[in-house]
Amino acid sequence: MLYGKDMSVTPGQQLRAYVDYLRDMGVYDLYRSDSPRMVVSEEVLATLRTEVGRSLAAKEVRPAPSATVAATPTAEPVRSVPFARPIAAAPAPRSASDLSGTPNPSDAPFIDLMPKPLSFDQLAPLPATRVAPDGKAAALEAVRGDIGDCTRCPLAYAGRHSIVFADGDPKASLMFVGEGPGADEDASGLPFVGKAGQLLNNMIAAMGVAREQVYIANIVKCRPPRNRTPEPVEANTCSQFLLRQIDIVQPKVIVALGATAATYLLGVKQSLASLRGVWHEARGAKVAVTYHPAFLLRDPRQKGEAWKDLQRVMAELGLQPPRKG
Ligand code: URA
Repeated sequence: MLYGKDMSVTPGQQLRAYVDYLRDMGVYDLYRSDSPRMVVSEEVLATLRTEVGRSLAAKEVRPAPSATVAATPTAEPVRSVPFARPIAAAPAPRSASDLSGTPNPSDAPFIDLMPKPLSFDQLAPLPATRVAPDGKAAALEAVRGDIGDCTRCPLAYAGRHSIVFADGDPKASLMFVGEGPGADEDASGLPFVGKAGQLLNNMIAAMGVAREQVYIANIVKCRPPRNRTPEPVEANTCSQFLLRQIDIVQPKVIVALGATAATYLLGVKQSLASLRGVWHEARGAKVAVTYHPAFLLRDPRQKGEAWKDLQRVMAELGLQPPRKG
């Protein structure tokens, strides 16, 4: 079962969030049979299938791991749209009488048909002209203005209090990208201010820079319920804004904090171990992948490994650790 009694968001509210989300996309026929028929794009239909399928699947008993079922190539052709990743069609929702936990052919394909993430470089070409340093703060403000009181994805309806845009220097040469706001960030409107944020502050200080000198943002700007990993539809919807932020700030180095940041920035779904220790690239910046501070709080033994990652970043940027004493 996905939700416990202590959950702030019930399954009903979550489903309601998807319905509101689809309504915002213009799918009014979900509500009223007498509403005028709308022409609904393939993208909207694909999203509908995916989200309704996922919502139902989340409430169902999963089959035993040994149940292997070949993927059936039933996905309809999908077209990509600007700033959106192609969404594969989800299997048809099961009927209520089929919630027994019996292995169902729709389960394995559901996983196999998850959309392959696209890198930020694949989402949009690099801008032909760059924002001058003195215009960066205003350009970022304009992006914040475009986000507005966003209702573009289900996270808008999942109990968020703040849209957590970013923190730091618009002209920074070093940027950190995390996953998404937690409770403290949702309450304050600033990224990385909770326990993980304290550790990130320490990591930044150990690199010989102040938090105010770097730029900090997240893959999604609204808190996922229970701090769960953002769903692809949420990350994909939000990516357009982070992409614009990166293009404005133009950092020399981006540090991807954890697997979610790495997955969406780089468009690869690989283990963190395989992504660490080599330079990647996104939006003209060098990208280093390291552990998320929240992970380091759970497993402090990995702090030494994270420090190795940060030392490579320091060497790249010519940073010196602060002098002791
Ligand atoms: N974890 C994140 O990924 N981002 C935050 O802003 C806070 C915690």
